[in-house]
Amino acid sequence: MRKIRISTLLCMLVFSSGISYAAESEIAMEEYDHAITLTPDLANGRRAFESCAVCHGPEGWGNEQGTYPQIAGQLASVTIKQLADIRAGNRSNPMMVPFSSMQTLGGPQALADVAAYIAQLPMTPHNGLGPGMDLASGEKLYSDNCVDCHGANGEGDAKKHIPLIQGQHFEYLMRQFRLISDGKRRNADEEMVEQIKNFWGRDIIDVMDYTSRLRPPQERLAEPDWQNPDFPNYVRGPAHRSSTRMNDRGTSERKSRWRRRD
Ligand code: HEC
Ligand code: HEC
Repeated sequence: MRKIRISTLLCMLVFSSGISYAAESEIAMEEYDHAITLTPDLANGRRAFESCAVCHGPEGWGNEQGTYPQIAGQLASVTIKQLADIRAGNRSNPMMVPFSSMQTLGGPQALADVAAYIAQLPMTPHNGLGPGMDLASGEKLYSDNCVDCHGANGEGDAKKHIPLIQGQHFEYLMRQFRLISDGKRRNADEEMVEQIKNFWGRDIIDVMDYTSRLRPPQERLAEPDWQNPDFPNYVRGPAHRSSTRMNDRGTSERKSRWRRRD
């Protein structure tokens, strides 16, 4: 009797985890469809962004090692989609779960608000670049395999929530590319997975290196020392000092975080 109960329980667990996997993307898509129709409130977006600044920096520039991606300037629809995916468990990001939850961030309106705030932030002029080994090969790979979806200049596509990837940190791009091709980023685009299945080694480095050098239009770029005037009271640790080239710094400094001045 006892044995039967345990095996029944196991079956139920296996079965229910299968169901929840499909449910996660549905829950996320439902929230996306709702949030995308709402009129954003930038003032509330700015308030909500305060918690994001802890890791992404008050400029939203992340860091050059790509531990934290640049989110400044991202298309609002993409940010909404990623936040909805992360909190529904459709994109694994344990670090961000507590910050993106319904309880701390708020419902679909808050997603629309914070995404609109992030979209209007100017982008870093100093994103992390690749080693520059073979940019001609990177350019060819990009135009043969990526341009149809991500655009000639990596500008993405708001309607299809295809990410803007221009000016993104090289290391972050490499990490996402590997997660996507290894099938570990659950929300990956199936057509993209198919398109990149034969990429390996040098090809990945070359195409990501080229992508990291796609420049956002001049009017979307900040001055090198720009600091977000909405957050005048943050003390910048070395990881987010806007004028600091992180590539020149030691690993111990990578962990430093924003501290708030009281
Ligand atoms: C504790 C640190 C932390 C906090 C706080 C945080 N993030 Fe993140 N975020 C990350 C990390 C790390 C990644 C990259 C994860 C990966 O490599 O897949 C990320 C990724 C993202 C992405 C995906 C970027 C892309 O290009 O796909 C978005 C969007 C994002 N964060 C938005 C936010 C917003 C909005 C907030 C505030 C509500 C926030 N984050 C708070 C650490 C954080
Ligand atoms: C069929 C369309 C398509 C093609 C082709 C494609 N992508 Fe994507 N890509 C997407 C979509 C859609 C996403 C976002 C999926 C999601 O998370 O919702 C994405 C996500 C990404 C990301 C993660 C971005 C982030 O901010 O986290 C990177 C990096 C990327 N693509 C690079 C590339 C490169 C480089 C190529 C060419 C070698 C390529 N993609 C080809 C559609 C495509």
